[in-house]
Amino acid sequence: MYNYKRISATLFFLAAIVVSASLRAQSTARTIESFNKDWKFNLGDESAAKESSYNDGNWRSLQLPHDWSIEGKFDPKNPATTGGGALPGGIGWYRKTFVLPVTSQHKNVFIDFDGVYLNSEVWINGHYLGLRPYGYSSFRYDLTPYLKFGKEKNVIAVKVDNSQQPNSRWYSGSGIYRNVWLVTTSNTFVDHWGTYITTPKADDQSATVHLTTTVHTVNASAKNATLTTILYGAGGKEIQRKTATIGLNEGNTVTDQDMIVAKPSLWSIEHPFLYKAVTQVSSNGKPMDSYTTSFGIRYFVFDTDKGFLLNGKPVKINGVCDHHDLGCLGAAINTRALERQLEILKGMGCNGIRTSHNPPAPELLDLCDKMGFIVMDEAFDMWKKQKNPFDYHLHWDEWHVKDLQDMILRDRNHPSIFIWSIGNEIPEQGDSSGIRIANELSAIVRDLDKTRPITSACDRPDKGNNIIKSGALDLIGYNYHQFMYEGFQRLYPGQKFVSTESVSALMTRGHYDLVPTSDIIRRWPERWDKPFDKGNPDLTVSAYDNVSAPWGSTHEETWKVIKKYNFLSGQYIWTGFDYLGEPTPYTWPARSSYFGIIDLAGFPKDIYYMYKGEWTNKDVLHIFPHWNWKQGDTVDIWSYYNHADEVELFLDGKSLGTRKKEGDDLHVSWRVPFAPGVLKAVSRRAGKIVLSTEIKTAGAPAKLVLTADRNNIKADGNDLSFVKVTIADKDGNMVPNADNLVKFIVNGNGNMAGVDNGSETSMESFKANQRKAMNGLCLAVIRSNGKKGSITLKAVSDGLAPAIIILQSK
Ligand code: GAL
Repeated sequence: MYNYKRISATLFFLAAIVVSASLRAQSTARTIESFNKDWKFNLGDESAAKESSYNDGNWRSLQLPHDWSIEGKFDPKNPATTGGGALPGGIGWYRKTFVLPVTSQHKNVFIDFDGVYLNSEVWINGHYLGLRPYGYSSFRYDLTPYLKFGKEKNVIAVKVDNSQQPNSRWYSGSGIYRNVWLVTTSNTFVDHWGTYITTPKADDQSATVHLTTTVHTVNASAKNATLTTILYGAGGKEIQRKTATIGLNEGNTVTDQDMIVAKPSLWSIEHPFLYKAVTQVSSNGKPMDSYTTSFGIRYFVFDTDKGFLLNGKPVKINGVCDHHDLGCLGAAINTRALERQLEILKGMGCNGIRTSHNPPAPELLDLCDKMGFIVMDEAFDMWKKQKNPFDYHLHWDEWHVKDLQDMILRDRNHPSIFIWSIGNEIPEQGDSSGIRIANELSAIVRDLDKTRPITSACDRPDKGNNIIKSGALDLIGYNYHQFMYEGFQRLYPGQKFVSTESVSALMTRGHYDLVPTSDIIRRWPERWDKPFDKGNPDLTVSAYDNVSAPWGSTHEETWKVIKKYNFLSGQYIWTGFDYLGEPTPYTWPARSSYFGIIDLAGFPKDIYYMYKGEWTNKDVLHIFPHWNWKQGDTVDIWSYYNHADEVELFLDGKSLGTRKKEGDDLHVSWRVPFAPGVLKAVSRRAGKIVLSTEIKTAGAPAKLVLTADRNNIKADGNDLSFVKVTIADKDGNMVPNADNLVKFIVNGNGNMAGVDNGSETSMESFKANQRKAMNGLCLAVIRSNGKKGSITLKAVSDGLAPAIIILQSK
């Protein structure tokens, strides 16, 4: 269930299918326009810029969303520090000059910011509208009293202050990094986040849909209005409508309505069916507002013994934690980039997202609703006690109530949200004030939504933890401590479990430390002093699943436990994707994480296939590492497979033996002296071949190969094509250690949005027309320029045959 922002588009769609003159007329009562275009930007403080008369003629022109940090240079002296990605912060100003039609004169006009990082202050025509410290909150200002109409110009000015850092434990980005909307309403309208839809009774036969609508009135001219709610199901078919007469008083009028939906299409991970509720407000037959809310019907429970049950069926939450950055695009939200991340995660069977550790962009929740993910929506990474000198603790007293309320109000209609988290690894776990604050925050949440359990991600899951002791949590959330999962029911009898954060294994895509370290589990940096634990001088971490942070585990170690017990409802693995900042186990010049199952560029690491084999019903057979070693090297070859009894490995046709998983094994392996050739694996069930796969020893780099995730994109100025560049030998085999520099030339109706290769240490700019490959791969992200037609991407590299790909922007 969510407040459907792109309402005008939906309304036109609905108007087209429900041939209803009244609905068409009412779509004009409210407009929601993207307010992203034609902003001016200045990096640096310029306090006079708040005045309308200020001349911003020589400022840079740009479109939002925008993140200025990602455009900068890596430097450990940047105040964000290496943990924050080592990119610059500072103060920036944005201005937008706009006109409004005379027809808007008697309307209400609001500006909605989905998120500004950080400490934003906003002025309209020189009037101060306010300050919002928390960079992850969505907020609205009422522009109505200060606007001019017709030919007269309005100026909105936004100051963003991300100069005082570190204020985050990872890369935050800087600027108006989420979408901005201009909302125009009549004098009687559905309030901001003014619908709340729950399904107090729901099963396969029938559901009660309860709607609470808050209508806001200014300068009421009529005493009454009619509130009609219409529910639409599959294909936009009207299911039901309900009408109520409401008294119009200055301010808010709250109305409750119930509707019964027979044989509902339940929202599930496999079939995330969404209904729509259209709220219409009219007075004396005159339409005042029309507002669309998307919602889902589902029922669920966290059970002490059976774990998580969705629509009556047990579902293991196979989730990941993710930060909000989008690799080379930085923090600037792009819906397609998010969708691609979720598609890649779905591909390995992931079904859950934790918005670690803050309220996400609304588009992420829209996508999770549509694609079927179980979301844990998280409010804070710290409360009153700091983790960093300039973090949210500075604003806690004044802002935590509002920020938490706003997250719940904004997000509570999303069917994908199943858990509210009031905080991650909160220092107050160890302080008696944790009891009071946990109770206060839980009461704030329950006051606005009682339909989901509340948790907090505890890195101290012992009985002494004050947040657990407070009794305020519905679900006990463990961060790590997988060795304590088995004893959970004894430690907390009658309580419910979720692993809010797990694993923290480390790996560089395509990099392997050979025997003897390939079968030794290493915890970094705890045993830094031991010879085999010395960090690699090239700042790599081996991609065999055998290195983890000391507080974490390998992927296999945690999954073996979670898999075994039904009462363990599931886990959110740290992390799905690599992110900027927190380069554990190293520090500068490493600048991004090693934790991802998928690297920063979106290329899966080998462990992806272990999960794919365990979490999907697709046949999987994956072998690694690559087969380009030195004569005399001894190599451990690992295989992840499923749906088969055994795997046999061959080198140039000669069998190296057959292996079977025993007990709770998740992989099999062979120790083999290297000799160049073709390594082939065959998986068999009952003697029949299920799959076979091979890796060849690659020759010298000879050519580039381009592969786009989508060859057709929308000509909307936002859509993206992610083009993978493979450095290949003359026969097309990826050269696994190739690091050739690739240069890009884009022609036609697109431009370069960013480049990457997944390296945690590259100092190259993400906003460039070239990139070195890392372990055979790099990435170019192409954005539509808003015009229809073709886009040609040419990739060239010294000594290699170039490649061209033609994309269509439609
Ligand atoms: C956790 C923390 C995460 C991240 C992770 C890295 O303790 O909650 O934010 O820092 O460690 O392993």
